[in-house]
Amino acid sequence: MDHAFYEEKDGVAVITFNNPPVNGLGHGLRQAIVEGVDRANGSAAVRAIVLSGSERAFSAGADVTEFGTPKSSQAPTLRTVIEVLEQSAKPVVAAINGVCLGGGLELALGAHYRVAAAGAKVGLPEVKLGILPGAGGTQRLPRVLGLEKALNLIVSGQISKASAFAGSALFDKVVDTDPLAAAVEFAKGLGSDAPLKRIRDLNVPDADADALLLNARNAVKAASARFPAPAACVEAVAASTNQSFDDGLALERQLFTQLLTSPESLALRHVFAAERAATKIPGIAADIALRPIKLVGVIGAGTMGGGISMNYLNAGIPVILLEQKEEALQRGVATIRKNYENTMKKGRITAEQVEERMNLLSTSLSYDALNEVDLVIEAVFEDMGVKEVVFRELDRVVKPGAILASNTSTLDVDKIASFTKRPEDVIGLHFFSPANVMKLLEIVRGEKTANDVLATCIDMAKKIGKQPVVSGVCDGFIGNRMLYAYRDAADEVMLQGAAPSQVDRALESFGFAMGPYRVGDLAGLDIGWAIRKRKKEANPQGYEEVVADRLCEAGRFGQKTGAGWYRYVAGDRKPHVDPEVETLIETFRKEKGVTPRSFSDQEIVERCVYALANEGAKILEEGIALRASDIDIVYLNGYGFPLHRGGPMHYAQQAGLFNVVRAIRQFGATSSRPQAWQPAALLEQHAQSGEALK
Ligand SMILES: NC(=O)c1ccc[n+]([C@@H]2O[C@H](COP(=O)([O-])OP(=O)(O)OC[C@H]3O[C@@H](n4cnc5c(N)ncnc54)[C@H](O)[C@@H]3O)[C@@H](O)[C@H]2O)c1
Repeated sequence: MDHAFYEEKDGVAVITFNNPPVNGLGHGLRQAIVEGVDRANGSAAVRAIVLSGSERAFSAGADVTEFGTPKSSQAPTLRTVIEVLEQSAKPVVAAINGVCLGGGLELALGAHYRVAAAGAKVGLPEVKLGILPGAGGTQRLPRVLGLEKALNLIVSGQISKASAFAGSALFDKVVDTDPLAAAVEFAKGLGSDAPLKRIRDLNVPDADADALLLNARNAVKAASARFPAPAACVEAVAASTNQSFDDGLALERQLFTQLLTSPESLALRHVFAAERAATKIPGIAADIALRPIKLVGVIGAGTMGGGISMNYLNAGIPVILLEQKEEALQRGVATIRKNYENTMKKGRITAEQVEERMNLLSTSLSYDALNEVDLVIEAVFEDMGVKEVVFRELDRVVKPGAILASNTSTLDVDKIASFTKRPEDVIGLHFFSPANVMKLLEIVRGEKTANDVLATCIDMAKKIGKQPVVSGVCDGFIGNRMLYAYRDAADEVMLQGAAPSQVDRALESFGFAMGPYRVGDLAGLDIGWAIRKRKKEANPQGYEEVVADRLCEAGRFGQKTGAGWYRYVAGDRKPHVDPEVETLIETFRKEKGVTPRSFSDQEIVERCVYALANEGAKILEEGIALRASDIDIVYLNGYGFPLHRGGPMHYAQQAGLFNVVRAIRQFGATSSRPQAWQPAALLEQHAQSGEALK
């Protein structure tokens, strides 16, 4: 394949990149650019050179297919290509269209002149992958934009339209017309004595560098304590103001190399790939015909139904909300309106947008109103009997080909599908609370769910701004099933001697926003208690009492009653350690014959996080999850797993599966519930073979 096309016309050589879809700067393209520039310099007919991409992309930066392969660093490297441009004896003009990001922008900064389409998207987003621009971006951008603007762009990774930089030295021209034609005109207009403007020869214009840098250092410390890249970006950019260009470039390289192997960058790059992989389903063609979703029905206007409806209204898709009673309907609609008005007060939407969205919402007490919907999502009480009534009704009224979805968090989607004569159209859409905010959507594929139904739901999830992950049918699906294992591991540690506050603190230091006991107090302990009471009634002998039962018996339901695992002061959510809880736990331990021991924070974290990874591996070997990285996406987007750790499966992989299995066995050896610590067969296999979990 020709990685770039070369053409000479009227004294201008045009080098057009040809590495679809986004002109990633792979080895072939890098080599082709150097060859093109050399050829143009050797041609007597050429006076100037234009570099151009496609309408879609000048270049989106590094070629992701080369990541981790020797080709990514094979000469000519991007730095060499940029030097070749800078040193070209004939002026080089970059014609920027589409996206011009990361290495793509660094390449353009190596040209002597830049002509951009006003709508072209430019930025240095490397920080989002835990690295920094490593081909001179941290040294050249401040020289054309000034320190403050360049710092903001590099530290945030923000992508902006080229028009935002019109009039700055970043672009010589910003045009509303075809940037290639404009760049060729521009190149023709350059006289034979036109200067070869090298950004490296400029000084950074800002005067008050010290104050700006101090501010930036403090800001990144506060905002991204867990990630080293933003602080490294500041230091690299700082060098552009107080070191020579070459010294700055050397520092940039050194910091880049350090970041590239940092655990945080590995985690972020893993997540980047995992998010994309999660939407691809083996055996379903990417071009499968999707079912149109133009009208949505939602059943139940409670906590979930309201939030679910908002997702569609936000995307401009009309919703019919159905309830049993007018009063419930009115309450649900009022909550939706209140949510929108609160968003409006924060200045995120206008009053007009509130009305536009509310106008897309209609309500009904009759199933017959749903006969034309393309998708209906049930969010009624979590009770199989109630679900049965709803799905039989839906089967009766909804048009053929419509998708029938349940938001159940625990019930068997195959059983729900069996209430209809069209199980192939039934699927689980497990939104998380608050459903209009949380990014995760577990898509539960039933035994009979049709491929086009699944593909349509994945596509629809993206349209409403959700991150979809496909799960098979099992108790709790991917996320909640793992949560049970995590909570049991925490309870075991607590029963054996650690205080709830120590467990929370250990997991919060690891990076969870809240430990399990604080989460329990926030969510309310009565919900779990009600479920356990039902289990106990059904099987009194098999029921094993837990500490939380005693808390609930004492009326401690969490924050809403001012007491749970902690004590709360009215009007304040801060947890206070409560001696009453300590006494209650001590009594419980004595009754159960447990002699308490001390735990290190590290052991607490290992027990809880390895419990997640072990259950995750079981979910993977049963085929409930399609890939290990899907499990990470569930945990990162739905359960507050710390992003810089990359998810429980990635974390276990990094800790070494051999070490993880060994630790799990040791936990099992001293446990009163050794079966819970049985290592997943898949984990054992991979620990043996040394192969990564996929
Ligand atoms: N709350 C959560 O955090 C959460 C998270 C994920 C999934 N879910 C699941 O979502 C579903 C709804 O949960 P929720 O928290 O919104 O409950 P909720 O009690 O807040 O709301 C349920 C609503 O359904 C209505 N309803 C009940 N039976 C009905 C029927 N036959 N026809 C029409 N409307 C009916 C009720 O009037 C009520 O307004 C459950 O299956 C639950 O497991 C809940």
